[in-house]
Amino acid sequence: MVEPTTVTREGIRVRLRPVEDGDLDDLVPLANDEGVARWTDLPQPYERGHAAKVIALAHEELRLGQSAYLAVCDVDSDALMGMTSLANLDFESRNGEVGIWLGRPYWGNGLAMEAFDLLLEIAFERLDLTKLFGIVLEGNEASMKLFKRFGFQEEGRLRWHTKRDEAWMDKIFYGLLREEWERLIGRS
Ligand SMILES: CC(C)(COP(=O)(O)OP(=O)(O)OC[C@H]1O[C@@H](n2cnc3c(N)ncnc32)[C@H](O)[C@@H]1OP(=O)(O)O)[C@@H](O)C(=O)NCCC(=O)NCCS
Repeated sequence: MVEPTTVTREGIRVRLRPVEDGDLDDLVPLANDEGVARWTDLPQPYERGHAAKVIALAHEELRLGQSAYLAVCDVDSDALMGMTSLANLDFESRNGEVGIWLGRPYWGNGLAMEAFDLLLEIAFERLDLTKLFGIVLEGNEASMKLFKRFGFQEEGRLRWHTKRDEAWMDKIFYGLLREEWERLIGRS
């Protein structure tokens, strides 16, 4: 079990909180976008049934302490802007997988940086994880920059692992240790 309050956190423009049933109407149009799907596993077209399944899964996995699928919201209006996640939580080995996508209207304004800042604090401070990893498709410049800004290092590459638009792409694994994050934010 992961308490909802443990994975709720506010920054200056962004609030992270568990995904709620009421997010469904906002989630569908934001996720129904080839530009988001190209770099994620979101199905296209993205329909209400997909959103309902994800929200139900999010409730279940949070309850079981397996994953935290979080809404990235506007701090004032609480409107959904995208989703971020700590998935595949392994409390024995103290690691988890980070992911993020934002709806197209919200790209390029530093919101993912702010969301990651909050997410990493949740992961390392509140959930006491020791290591995070993330998987990026080759060519996803925005995502690679995001991971690198937070000190993630490339740890491995699965070559020609995914096909998008008839082109093979490598999957790149990035990893970040808590001590590296603490150095980055000036705590050690
Ligand atoms: C990846 C994503 C979450 C970034 O969100 P964002 O709010 O636009 O990112 P930010 O504005 O916080 O910028 C983060 C970094 O990426 C860079 N960046 C943003 N958009 C970029 C683009 N289109 N091309 C290259 N770099 C880009 C920013 O300059 C910044 O790097 P810097 O600080 O070194 O300059 C967003 O583009 C997205 O949702 N993309 C589709 C889904 C996706 O790729 N998810 C990640 C799967 S691993």
